[in-house]
Amino acid sequence: MQAAADRVWHDDPPNGGMMLPDFDALRKLFPTLDNWVYLDTAAKAPLPRCAEEAMVSYMADMWERVGERSFSLQEIERARECLARLVGVPSSTLSFIKNTSEGINIVAHGLGLEAGDKVLISEFEHSAGVLPWRRLEKDGVEVEIVRGSAGRIPPEAFIEKMDDRTRAVGVSWVAYGNGYRFDIPALSAACRERGIVLAVDGIQAVGVLATPLMELGADVVVAGGFKGLLSPTGTGFLYCREGFASRIEPAYVARFSFASDDKWKQPLKLATDSSRFEYGNPNFLGIWVMRHSVELILSIGLEQIERRVRDLTTYLYEQVEECGLTVKTPRPWHERAGILSFDVPDPESVRRQLMQRKIVVNVRDGDSLRVAPHFYNTRQDIDTLVDSLETVIPVARSDER
Ligand SMILES: Cc1ncc(COP(=O)(O)O)c(C=O)c1O
Repeated sequence: MQAAADRVWHDDPPNGGMMLPDFDALRKLFPTLDNWVYLDTAAKAPLPRCAEEAMVSYMADMWERVGERSFSLQEIERARECLARLVGVPSSTLSFIKNTSEGINIVAHGLGLEAGDKVLISEFEHSAGVLPWRRLEKDGVEVEIVRGSAGRIPPEAFIEKMDDRTRAVGVSWVAYGNGYRFDIPALSAACRERGIVLAVDGIQAVGVLATPLMELGADVVVAGGFKGLLSPTGTGFLYCREGFASRIEPAYVARFSFASDDKWKQPLKLATDSSRFEYGNPNFLGIWVMRHSVELILSIGLEQIERRVRDLTTYLYEQVEECGLTVKTPRPWHERAGILSFDVPDPESVRRQLMQRKIVVNVRDGDSLRVAPHFYNTRQDIDTLVDSLETVIPVARSDER
């Protein structure tokens, strides 16, 4: 890790002695960026060199030391501690899971919801945040959709729909479509007052926003690793606030789920911390790689990353508006994060034409182009995108740059 850290910090700190990451050097840690203007981190992150190095070292350990480290639970705990440091929670509150969908399923199916109970979800949810809850409809659970206006769904919209049947709220920290950042602390307070469980899909925020998960106040936060955490698919985490894991009954259990590893023990007693959701051998390779990526993120610092993403997306916001295009993402920073969505005519065709120019963006939310930079992007990337947009679609600039 020392080597990576050496590569990413300015030797001569500007800003009155404050160390700033050398983002140009960081960019070089992502070979994808040699050939692409990659602005689609909301879909998946290009993996850094340290991920490749980790895969190689995993194999070397397998071949040369029969997996002494790579196939060891100590390494899993080491990764858990690293991740816990990054997301700002005690490590005993984190379970490794394979994706966001699995995490939301664990919660939705583990809360013991019954016919007549109600769950609120926002209309901005990804299918991972809709379908696990909607599956409960077959048991008579009512899933009600909370709708917003002008690209926002404030806590009040949820509160209006809360009644004495409401048991849970499922919501994203940052919406995958228009990039709206929900006010999770306010929603947490409202849920806590009424004894309602708040489960947050954090995948579009984790690794981008610096707020420690504990400060959000939610009961549960889940996230897959393949976006802001720069990790392979098949990695992810489920965070349950301290004391909350025991409220969830796991559907699957095995050797790691119990307080004791004596398989004949009477009576069987589930672990009360997040290990109750882990059962067989974990994704050793994925978690090994994830730990290296998380160490890279830690070496930069989430505050620096958030500042960088804020700068890039604000610049993008201004450029896109100057083109006369309508941005669907709310403007204030506290209402957005790493995603900007704006309307273009025939977005799929625009996306394809940009792809031909080696610029990667996405189409979401019907008519919108979704652009999602990360710390490894530059203002130059934004300029290249905007210049290409001006060629691909007829746009009216309000003035010359
Ligand atoms: C908000 C949100 N939730 C979940 C997912 C993905 O779910 P999973 O990790 O289960 O593939 C995505 C994107 O892929 C997303 O944007």
